[in-house]
Amino acid sequence: MKKTLAVLEGDGIGPEITREGIKVLRTIEKKYDHEFVLEPAPFGAASYFDEGSPFPDKTKEICDNADAIIKGPVGLSVEEMDKIPQESRPELGAILPLRKRFNTYANYRPVRLPKGLASFSPLRDSVVGDGIDILMIRELVGGIYFGDKVEGTATDMKYASDDCIYTEEQVRNIAIVAFDEARKRKALMTNVHKANVLATSRFWNAIVEDVAKEYDDVEYASVIVDNAAFQLVINPTQFNGVMLLENMQGDMLTDQAGGLLGSLGLMPSACIGPDKGYVEPAHGSAPDIAGQNKANPYSMIGSIAFLLDKCLGLQEESDAVWNAMFDILNQGFVTGELANATTDPKKILSTTDFGDRVVDILSNS
Ligand code: IPM
Ligand code: MN
Repeated sequence: MKKTLAVLEGDGIGPEITREGIKVLRTIEKKYDHEFVLEPAPFGAASYFDEGSPFPDKTKEICDNADAIIKGPVGLSVEEMDKIPQESRPELGAILPLRKRFNTYANYRPVRLPKGLASFSPLRDSVVGDGIDILMIRELVGGIYFGDKVEGTATDMKYASDDCIYTEEQVRNIAIVAFDEARKRKALMTNVHKANVLATSRFWNAIVEDVAKEYDDVEYASVIVDNAAFQLVINPTQFNGVMLLENMQGDMLTDQAGGLLGSLGLMPSACIGPDKGYVEPAHGSAPDIAGQNKANPYSMIGSIAFLLDKCLGLQEESDAVWNAMFDILNQGFVTGELANATTDPKKILSTTDFGDRVVDILSNS
């Protein structure tokens, strides 16, 4: 297959982890006889300083013309970010516009920790049990992120507001994605909400429950978001399967999930729209460790695995990448942030070591 892919390497550790992802992609290209044409483009905080925009027109054009997009994390140090006006910072000026432009409503964030890797987690082994395997599906283009934002002054006070809006179509679309995934896995689908307080959550639940009628083969549960946060720590494996979350609640619980795994470096993601998708690590750009060759590239290489499957329909290739990464971890290798006092120092890998090992496994299997 021949495909054109936009590559937005981003800021901080973005370039170095993206390089590992591309190395893996090139290996897949050769091994399975595909052709991937890569189109690099500026995006993020450095792009604001270099090009005057965090999401320049030429980048939009490259993304429009690409079959799918690979995006690294964005953002620089607090001092650098302070120099950028709010609307041009990467969050409001680049990431949200990218999501809106391609209506990438379905955000896949897998939370996987096999029993054998329980030592990564701050949770006790007995809590990790037979392993955590949750696919968090986060709605990505609606809710409070995209409602009107106002900072105003009335006669006697200053105020601010963020509207939280969902349309029926938005909820139905993401519910279908979540139920389809649960059906594929023959697994539980847990709907997360705050219907005891929010009108948008009551509306959300009514639509999710309506969609559930089409999936009577899928086991369905629902949980209030604050309780979900608690239960995820006390007994995460009860959620093994799929969790469906709206945008803001999903932002929070997916970071918490990274905490359960012991590192946000273990959180890849895919953001899929009706016509095209993009992939990105679920974490930030970690400017404090940028350029030191120690960031964990799992999140980016996993995002490449997602790109192969969710954007290009290459299931076998995608599985090969996931398997290679789990082989490495199961052999006891880790990146620095996952090491502990008992880790053999010879088993601690740099960013490039980890990528090289994935390439070796793929090339020799
Ligand atoms: C994420 C990030 C983004 C979000 C930020 C950077 C806008 O935290 O992808 O989880 O809040 O969605
Ligand atoms: Mn987040």
